[in-house]
Amino acid sequence: MSFESRGRGVVARAVWPLATICVLFAVEPARGADPPRLVAAWAAGPMEVRLAWDGPVDEAFAGRLVGRSITFAKPSRPGWDASKTPRGAIKIAASRRADGGRTLVLATDPHPTATSYLLRLDDAGGMPAEYSLGGVEASWGSGVEGDEPSWTAWWPSLDLKDWRALAARGSTEHAARLADLSKPGRLSIRTLLRLPQGTYAARLWSNVPVEASINGEDALKSSATPRGEYRVELAVESSGDVIDLLATLPTGLGGAPTALRATLATRAEPKSERALSDLLVPWSPTPAAPVVAPAAAPAFDLNGGDAARGEAVFFSEQARCAACHQVSGRGGAIGPDLSNQAGRDLASIYREINDPSAFIDPEYQPFVVANKDGRVAVGLVRAAGSDGLRVVDTASQTTELRRGDVAELRPSASSIMPAGLIGVLGEQKMRDLLAYLSTPPQSKSGGKR
Ligand code: HEC
Repeated sequence: MSFESRGRGVVARAVWPLATICVLFAVEPARGADPPRLVAAWAAGPMEVRLAWDGPVDEAFAGRLVGRSITFAKPSRPGWDASKTPRGAIKIAASRRADGGRTLVLATDPHPTATSYLLRLDDAGGMPAEYSLGGVEASWGSGVEGDEPSWTAWWPSLDLKDWRALAARGSTEHAARLADLSKPGRLSIRTLLRLPQGTYAARLWSNVPVEASINGEDALKSSATPRGEYRVELAVESSGDVIDLLATLPTGLGGAPTALRATLATRAEPKSERALSDLLVPWSPTPAAPVVAPAAAPAFDLNGGDAARGEAVFFSEQARCAACHQVSGRGGAIGPDLSNQAGRDLASIYREINDPSAFIDPEYQPFVVANKDGRVAVGLVRAAGSDGLRVVDTASQTTELRRGDVAELRPSASSIMPAGLIGVLGEQKMRDLLAYLSTPPQSKSGGKR
């Protein structure tokens, strides 16, 4: 991919492997007064997106983004017509200008899955901002044991040339971070490698001594090459799961600016190297290898239920479906609206009720939220204002937390929808419930109230 910053006579080009496309740029020829152009968009954390502009954006524009959705492609769901699978959305809960208006910091719902995200910016005179969860997380600080890093930032790759290209394009934040790298300190870079099964040699090259480790193992130190570079080689055995890579190097040693790049070779062809790509930020949700357990056939006949009785079950205290779901405008809005289940086969609706965690819609991806004080909340997480978040648990109870208090946010494999409801309700009520859900909305007995 290449990008160029038009209008300033500067053309910066960087060729990136397709899989690390993280930064998008977007710009139509300016009409009238030059509106600021988007330079880059990235997820700075699970619940934070940043947009860099080549000039200050105004307060009103920043405010207009609040309440908007960032959309993402959802995987198709078993038993659903793929064309019906809409895009998922995460909401922007707050927007703040930084770097004199050249960076916008957006507080968002958590990014549920490693896919590409899109924010429409028609009113900024531009094409959408697009980003993925690709890239690395860099921290820089004194390097003294026990010291907190001075900053942690997103970068597109393990190649410092890409960092410089981003700064040159006009990302104020990245330019400021790069400037720090000429000061004495220590830079740590973490990322997740996605590699097909196999045996690889991952190599990091620098003009300063570099250390690297994978999956928390002991760090290996680089050795000097005849060409005066430092190189560290990691033997990587990939099972197909992501591999955690950590690299650290000193900064501000004087002389030439710090250089770093990373290459990958397979064991079969150790001499044929390519740039190490397909990286995910360390906090990225990573798809667990899909467990395609054969769906258990229902143990009883699902047909013959009564929709009117099913409606009563749906809204009953015993089933509590309506605590989380709406049908025809009635009920809670925690889970998906179930008004449009008509036309689906009963067995697939049954499976979703019987085993809610078998396929979790990414829009309803639950998280384990670990608080700094040791408390843990599990549930759907939604951003609340610039500083808060709400966690809705399996009992449909809401816990409010402050973002600053959250130590870790990790996707959970269990849906917040309670399992075992079928055991509680019994066969007859289950049949009635299925009859109710699969009846088209206009013919449901109660109708809209
Ligand atoms: C505590 C909240 C909660 C309760 C109670 C609950 N659900 Fe759910 N349900 C969810 C969430 C969240 C999802 C979406 C996540 C997922 O795919 O598992 C979901 C998904 C579903 C789906 C899949 C439909 C779709 O479009 O994604 C069906 C069908 C469903 N629930 C039916 C029911 C029925 C019937 C009951 C009552 C017996 C019930 N649920 C009780 C939260 C709940």
